Amino acid sequence: MSSLDAQAGAARAHAPAAVDAVPMPDATPHWATRVRALHWLVFATVATAVCAVLARDWVDDGGLGKALMRVHTQAGVLVLAFALFRIVSRLAARAPQTHDRRALAGRAAALIHLFFYLALIALPLLGWGYLNAKGKPVLLFGLELPRIVGRDRDLAETLQSLHTTLAWTFLAIVGLHVLGALWHHFMAKDDVLRSMLRPRKTPAPATSLPTPPVDEVIE
Ligand code: HEM
Ligand code: HEM
Repeated sequence: MSSLDAQAGAARAHAPAAVDAVPMPDATPHWATRVRALHWLVFATVATAVCAVLARDWVDDGGLGKALMRVHTQAGVLVLAFALFRIVSRLAARAPQTHDRRALAGRAAALIHLFFYLALIALPLLGWGYLNAKGKPVLLFGLELPRIVGRDRDLAETLQSLHTTLAWTFLAIVGLHVLGALWHHFMAKDDVLRSMLRPRKTPAPATSLPTPPVDEVIE
C-alpha cells in the first residue's frame, strides 16, 4: 500500500461518517512539482543542445555553424546548472509509488536514473574542458566562464573523444528511457508517465464539509 493510500485511510478513519460522501481527490501518486519542472526543463535544454550540434552538420555557412555551436555550448552549460539544482531537489523528494521499484525492471530504471545524473554533470564538464584544452573560452550569455583546464593538445583529443562517446551512449540510454515510459503508459497502462507529467488534480469538494487532508503532495 502506498503512503498516499495510508494517508487516505487515516483521514477516512478520523473523519465524520458524512465525509464518506465527499469524492476523494485523485489519488494518483506523482513526482513533486520541482522534480517534474526540472525533469522537463533539463529535457528541453538537452534537446536544444543536441539539435544545435546535429544541425551544424547540415549547414555550409561557417557563421551559422559557429552560432549553432554557441547554442550547443551555452545550452550544455545550462544543463549542468539545472542538473545540480535537480540533484538537490531530487534528494529532498521521495519517489512516488507508481510501480514496484524493488522488481528487476525498477532496479534497472534506478540505475539508468543514476547514470543520467552522472552524465548530466560529466558531459558538460568534458565539453567545457575540451574547449579550454584547445585554448578556447566557454561563454555563457557573453560572460567568459573560468577555464577548468590549461591548453593541452593531447588532453583536448582525449576530452573530445570522451565527450562524443559519452554523448552518444547517453542519447541511446535516453532512447531506452523514453521507450520505457511509453511502454508503461500504453502497454502496462499504469501511472508512471502521468506521475511525471501532471500535478495531482484536487477536485472541488461536492459538499460544504471540509475536505479531509488527503491531498498532500508527496514531496
Ligand atoms: C548535456 C549536455 C551536452 C550534450 C548532451 C552534448 C552532446 C554532444 C553531441 C551529441 C555532440 C556531437 C558529437 C559528434 O559530432 O559525434 C557534441 C559535440 C560537441 N560538444 Fe557537446 N554536449 C553537451 C554539452 C557540451 C558543453 C557544455 C560543451 C562546451 C562548453 C560542449 C562542447 C562540444 C563541442 C565543442 C563539440 C564538438 C566536438 C567536435 O567537433 O568533434 N558540449 N556534444
Ligand atoms: C534528456 C532526456 C531525459 C533525461 C536526462 C531524463 C532523466 C530522468 C531521471 C533522472 C528520472 C528519475 C526521476 C528523477 O530522479 O528526477 C526520470 C524519470 C522519468 N522520466 Fe525522464 N528523462 C528524460 C526524458 C524523458 C522523456 C522524453 C520522457 C517521456 C517520454 C521521460 C519520462 C520519464 C518518466 C515517466 C519518469 C518517471 C519514472 C518513474 O517514476 O520511475 N523522460 N527521467
